[in-house]
Order: sequence, then C-alpha cells, then structure tokens
Amino acid sequence: MAKKTPKKLDDDPNTTGHSWDGIEEFDNPMPRWWLWSFYATIIWGIGYVIAYPAWPMINGATAGVLGWSTRGDVITEIARVEEANAENWAQLAAVDLTRLAEDPELNNYASKAGAAVFKTWCAQCHGSGAAGAKGYPNLLDNDWLWGGDIEAIHTTIAHGIRNEEDDDARYSEMPAFGDILERAEIEQVVNYVMSLSGTPKDASLVSAGETVFVDNCTACHAEDASGDQTQGAPNLKDAIWLYGGDYDAVKATVTYSRYGVMPSWNQRLTEAEVRAVAAYVHQLGGGE
Ligand code: HEC
Ligand code: HEC
Repeated sequence: MAKKTPKKLDDDPNTTGHSWDGIEEFDNPMPRWWLWSFYATIIWGIGYVIAYPAWPMINGATAGVLGWSTRGDVITEIARVEEANAENWAQLAAVDLTRLAEDPELNNYASKAGAAVFKTWCAQCHGSGAAGAKGYPNLLDNDWLWGGDIEAIHTTIAHGIRNEEDDDARYSEMPAFGDILERAEIEQVVNYVMSLSGTPKDASLVSAGETVFVDNCTACHAEDASGDQTQGAPNLKDAIWLYGGDYDAVKATVTYSRYGVMPSWNQRLTEAEVRAVAAYVHQLGGGE
C-alpha cells in the first residue's frame, strides 16, 4: 500500500526519496577526508601496479618497471655471500692441505664449510654425526681403511671407493672365500679372526684357523692381521667392525665378501669443497 510522503520542510536534509515505513534515506555527501583517502588509495594502487609485479598472467606476472622480485632479492643475497666467501674458497683450493692447520682462520672456515658439505652429501651414508653404520665406516675413530692423514682422506673423497665412475677410485677386492675354501676351513678362520679381538665361538678351531689365515689372508690383512691401508683391508685385531664381529657376520664376510662402494665427489663438488670436507673429516677426532 502506497504511503503518503510527508511534506518536505526547508531545513530538512536532502533525501534520496527512498522511504520505508516512513523512514527516509539521507543523501549526504561523503566526508571530504574519506573521499580524498579513497582517491589516494586508487592512485597508490595504479602506481604500485606500474612499479611492481602485479597482474597474474599465464606464465608468471607483469614484471613492473622497477624490475624487483623476491627471487631477484634472494639471488642478490646469495651473490653477496658468495662474493664475501670467494677469497676463502680460492685460498682453500690452492692451499697445501698438510699445512692447512697453520692458518687457523682458513682452517676454521674449511671445517665449518666442510661440515655443511658433509650434512648435504655424506650424512645419508655416514650418519649426520659421522658415526657410520654397518657397511659405512665410522669417521670419528682412529681406525682407517684407506688412511687417515688429510691427503689420504682427500684422495678417498675425491675419487671414491670401488665405483665405476672414476678410474682413480680406490680399489681392492676381497675374494668370496665360499668359492675357494672348504666349509670347515671357513669355520676355522672365522674363529681365528674372532680370537684376535675377543672370544671365538669355538676355541678348538683357532689354531687350525691361523694356518688358513696365513695361507689366504695375510696378503691383504698383513701377517699380524693389522690390515693394509694401501688395499683398504681393515685391521682385524681392533674390535672395530665395519660389517659386524659376531660369528655370523664374520662368516658372511669371509664367505661372500663385501665390496663396499663409495661414489667419487670430484665431479659433484668443487675442489675447494672436497678439501673443506676432507678437513672437516680429518678434524672429527680420528685424523692422523
Ligand atoms: C652412498 C654411500 C656413501 C656416501 C654418500 C658417502 N660415502 Fe664415504 N664411504 C662409503 C662406504 C661404503 C665406505 C667404505 C668403503 C670400503 O669398504 O672401503 C666409505 C668410506 C669413506 C672414507 C674412508 C674411511 C676410511 O676408514 O678410510 C671416507 C674418508 C669417507 N667415506 C668420506 C665421505 C665423505 C666426506 C662423503 C661426502 C662427501 C662420503 N664419504 C659420502 C659410502 C658413502
Ligand atoms: C685381496 C685382499 C683381501 C684378502 C685376500 C682378504 N681380505 Fe678380508 N678384506 C679385504 C678388504 C678390502 C676388506 C674390506 C671390504 C669392504 O669394505 O668391502 C676386507 C674385509 C674383511 C673383513 C671385515 C672386517 C670388518 O671390519 O667388518 C673380515 C672379517 C675379513 N676381511 C677377513 C678376511 C679373511 C678371514 C681372509 C682370508 C680367508 C681375508 N679377509 C682375505 C681384503 C682382503
């Protein structure tokens, strides 16, 4: 039902003419401060769109005339850090490794950078604390397969061990004695090996085992079973085991052999990085 509009008085404010149940809508202008702020945000918005990356497109977004991007920021930041470290890396690539310890500042840089390299590339196999696991040597102790002075460690890391990708990889191969010796001889020699650092499973086989050892094993593990680092043959007397020292583990090693493989790193890492991680490993405690 249409309502009669009340008569408009002179000092009544303007209305839009809308009326609901006699309630009318004023038609006042927006406050000036509000309107100017509103225009200012529009102008700022247009400026932003021109200056910075803004409109999403199919591949990426409009670039903006300033050419700024978060990615660009990261690139600049990385370049800044690299530039700051460039001298250290260059020195490290050139230094005589055996004299690295004489330069405490560079040495410190090398072991810190080396620790970062280790966490990225080596921890999967050697453990994040370098304590190793079965088949992956502990790098904290003083027991080295291939030598523990810094240059030997550097060579091991640069070329790797028994891998096919590097012709200079460290190489040796313990035969699988399951194909060479009688079962009884294997049992004897396993007991002899166990007797060198602890208690054999069957003490009565030890002396026969020594004969088998002298005939078959000393070429690599040495007469006194202390190993040979030129062949990566472990010391068998020190109760430190790469593959386990209980009867079954030693028997499996002798029967099937093991053939531990480590990749080479001189293609994946820079020379300076290989040196840094060699310095890090050398300083872990067992370095000679
Ligand atoms: C894919 C697994 C793997 C990775 C990754 C790996 N290693 Fe090894 N590493 C091995 C194995 C296996 C051996 C023992 C090989 C053997 O039986 O001689 C070894 C041996 C070594 C040795 C010799 C230890 C000794 O007693 O002489 C050093 C040093 C070493 N690794 C350092 C490193 C460093 C540093 C890195 C990272 C740049 C690295 N490894 C990455 C598997 C690995
Ligand atoms: C041609 C050299 C060679 C001969 C011969 C050899 N070994 Fe080995 N042996 C090695 C090498 C190299 C390793 C390390 C294997 C690896 O990492 O793959 C090894 C590892 C071992 C291990 C494992 C040690 C550990 O820490 O887990 C045992 C045990 C062992 N040899 C016993 C013997 C016995 C017993 C004989 C003789 C019957 C023998 N080896 C003959 C080279 C040899």
